[in-house]
Amino acid sequence: MNIIRLPGLIDIHVHLRDPGATHKEDFYSGTCAALAGGVTTVFDMPNKGYDVINQQELENKIGIATQKAVCDWGLYLGTDGENISNFENLADKVVGLKIYLTSTTGHVLLPEELLPQVFEKWPKTKVIVCHIEGEKTGLVLDLAAKYKNKIHVTHVSTKKQLEQIIDVKKNNLNITCDVTPHHLFLTQDDILGLKGFGMVKPPLSTKSDTDFLWGHLKEIDCIVTDHAPHTMEEKISDNPPTGLPGLETMLPLLLTTYHQGILGIEDIIRLTNTNPQKIFGYKQDDGSYVEVDMDEEWMVKNEDLKTKCGWSQFNGWKMKGRVRRVFIRGTKAFEDGKILVDQGFGKNIVK
Ligand code: NCD
Ligand code: ZN
Repeated sequence: MNIIRLPGLIDIHVHLRDPGATHKEDFYSGTCAALAGGVTTVFDMPNKGYDVINQQELENKIGIATQKAVCDWGLYLGTDGENISNFENLADKVVGLKIYLTSTTGHVLLPEELLPQVFEKWPKTKVIVCHIEGEKTGLVLDLAAKYKNKIHVTHVSTKKQLEQIIDVKKNNLNITCDVTPHHLFLTQDDILGLKGFGMVKPPLSTKSDTDFLWGHLKEIDCIVTDHAPHTMEEKISDNPPTGLPGLETMLPLLLTTYHQGILGIEDIIRLTNTNPQKIFGYKQDDGSYVEVDMDEEWMVKNEDLKTKCGWSQFNGWKMKGRVRRVFIRGTKAFEDGKILVDQGFGKNIVK
């Protein structure tokens, strides 16, 4: 046994599906999965079959999370462009704004021509998280420079996209980005075996893309799960929805690469804790931390997972390094597979 303490992971990109698709996940099951993975704070995305874009939806969701969450949390606001005039009232209630320029599971798109208005009206001190794929990256980065917004490009997955970001980062300190474990640890070649369980947006990349991401991790600010569960039935259907779970496997995968000499502990802390705090101006309580047994070897098994979907694209993978205990604001919330706090223990980090 070799127990070390890490600051609790902050995952700034999850989809806990509550309300809207609670057969896939809800705020309780999703935050239980977070604790099992050493994640002490989650930032939840606005797409749930409908988007959280107005005050009523936002307050409803805040109420649900307040009752059910077992780790700390914050919410994003979505936009279809119709709620721009309400940004002023809504921005204070959320961690940031999420915009989608390419279609994905269950939410509205922001029409491209409204981008300048969104950039102009969203507070400059608050982050805009962008789901962009392909050629739209350049457009967003140009506008970000013009309007001086804090832009965070999420789930960067290709060499080309990361090159564009690295290039603008030289002159624009307001641009940050993240990558997901599935875009680091899986490639297009895995889709043959995974089928629906490897289908995600952005799609899994080529080996040369993932090699480039690994080679430039120093220029990537965070690692996020993009935890986006769908049921087994949905994933084995003829037309599987895109999205993969990830809360329970992110830290073990990173610890395993530590043992392989690929990542240092300081890299893991930077990507999962220090930078998320810096980017979002959030100070996580020092009493929120994880104790991991660095030496424990174990295997990911679908049946052991806490996520309601009950599967992982990493099922059967061998890990070295396991979450033993998780503390939130000084209270032991998780130990050896058991959740020790009641529903509603988790707090909204936006006051
Ligand atoms: C996400 C989902 O299922 O909510 N799917 C995905 O493939 N990543 C939506 C998203 O973030 O695009
Ligand atoms: Zn997502």
